[in-house]
Amino acid sequence: MVLDKINRPGLQGVIAAQTRLSRVDGQAGELIIAGYRVDEIAPRATFEEMVYLLWHDRLPTEKELAGFQVELAGLRTLPPVAMQALKQAAEKKLPVMDALRMAAGLLSLNADPEDAPAASRALVAAFATIVAAYWRTLNGDKPVEPNPELSHAANYLYMLDGEAPSEGRVRALDTYLNTVIDHGFNASTFTARTIVSTQSDIISGVVGAIGALKGPIHGGAPGPALDMVFEIGTAENAEPWLRNALEAGERLMGFGHRVYKVRDPRADVLNGAAAEFFQDGDQSDLYALVRHVEKEAIRLLEEYKPGRNLQTNVEFYTALVLHGIGLKTDIFAPTFAVSRVGGWTAHALEHLAEGRLIRPLADYAGANGRKWVSIEER
Ligand code: ACO
Repeated sequence: MVLDKINRPGLQGVIAAQTRLSRVDGQAGELIIAGYRVDEIAPRATFEEMVYLLWHDRLPTEKELAGFQVELAGLRTLPPVAMQALKQAAEKKLPVMDALRMAAGLLSLNADPEDAPAASRALVAAFATIVAAYWRTLNGDKPVEPNPELSHAANYLYMLDGEAPSEGRVRALDTYLNTVIDHGFNASTFTARTIVSTQSDIISGVVGAIGALKGPIHGGAPGPALDMVFEIGTAENAEPWLRNALEAGERLMGFGHRVYKVRDPRADVLNGAAAEFFQDGDQSDLYALVRHVEKEAIRLLEEYKPGRNLQTNVEFYTALVLHGIGLKTDIFAPTFAVSRVGGWTAHALEHLAEGRLIRPLADYAGANGRKWVSIEER
């Protein structure tokens, strides 16, 4: 079979595989996750239901869900060597994403990496423990043992704070985790699929995906997006601050997307969660400021980058929701990973079952015809 070669830097617009997991319509601003619109399912489901949906292509029955929760709760404890690695990482003050990558690789000790469903369960169950245990160690606190009685989201907050969280915080976190669990062939998911497409194991795929997610233009934007809002500080300062940044050629974090050329539908779901969460809290001024900064940013992006359709992306409201829940900016991206590991494993399982080796071409732009020169003569 002779295939036409197409040159698409960054593989933009190229379809590399089929998936039943999520459909991202960048023109209509629609995200479908396993058949459900994101706004239909994310504010209602628990994270466990969402993971089950991705892995099995249907929501669990009550009995199945109860069994799945018990199974995940039984896999939350980390291998002792992972706890030691986290301790050493904290001594060196390594970023949380680096600690997550290191400890995730050690989950091969909790499940056979070649048993893809078992490894997927071990990964999803333990990510929250890794992030929470590392965060506490980094801050000089003793890690909190996971509580098998709590749901995944509630237990994550419990392991971070050492206290049982309120229902409102758990609901907001479940909504966040569900909203970002899967999103087509984003860079980290594509990385996981590329790795398992060589018939490598799922833990290797997920470790690679963490590395891809760490980059500031993929998963690292919500921290800076929130810092930007705090730096702006007041509604009057929004326009001059944003103008200044755009004049200096800076990118406004939380805006623009490779696929969405209209508003990211996940931003609306998270805006809904934030509005509910902030409505009677003492931080309603922050919510009003965020809304104002968003409006000004979109207006100025159109002025400075006309026709690019740079709109709000998921990270802008992620920042607000996670801040409202009480998380610090340094664990925004790792919390994204706590969710996205559900999508990565689902994609890896799908690719292991039916995918081809992912192997694109490169356009060679180097020299030709060079002749060997011995080391003495160079
Ligand atoms: N602020 C200012 N200008 C921007 C922004 C932004 N946020 N985003 C894009 N642009 C400009 C670029 O400078 C470029 O301008 P030019 O053509 O004059 O050079 C033009 O818009 C197109 O940008 P590209 O980088 O080609 O667009 P791409 O599709 O590669 O980028 C990306 C998408 C990386 C998300 C980009 O919009 C960005 O850097 N945004 C800020 C970071 C961010 O919010 N990332 C989170 C994304 S969501 C996620 O990963 C879950």
